[in-house]
Amino acid sequence: MKILIIHGPNLNMLGKREPDVYGNATLDDINNLIEIVAKSLKVKTEYFQSNTEGEIVTKIQNSLDSIDGIVINPAAYTHTSVAIRDSLLSTNIPTVEVHISNIYKREKFRQHSYVSGVALGVISGFGTYSYILGLKAITNYLKSKK
Ligand code: DQA
Repeated sequence: MKILIIHGPNLNMLGKREPDVYGNATLDDINNLIEIVAKSLKVKTEYFQSNTEGEIVTKIQNSLDSIDGIVINPAAYTHTSVAIRDSLLSTNIPTVEVHISNIYKREKFRQHSYVSGVALGVISGFGTYSYILGLKAITNYLKSKK
């Protein structure tokens, strides 16, 4: 079973970026933590970060035959990208949306997600642990489907 972890724009800046909102962990710290939990769950993972919408769309399209589930933090594209939503719909790969911050507690423009409507579910507001919850949720979903 292989899970793709997608990090959207500016998440490569974690650790430096607004630590009061996003914490001190870097993207490598988060991926290392996900890897430890993935091993304990006996699932394989692949990691992808991009600051470019089209690259994320292409990555999702190219995952059609190789990836069983996706955990995605679309970052700012959450609130703008019909293209990412459509790429998830076109591949139909089960997806969990995650956010470090609680987007529903923040500015109005962050309270709408184009991805949520095509995701299995959304985890938002648990800091780095949102990714771990997302990984556990997608793994549980895929294992229970088998
Ligand atoms: C984010 C929330 C988004 O609104 C923001 O644009 C991000 C990160 C989060 O993880 O809390 O870049 O997705």
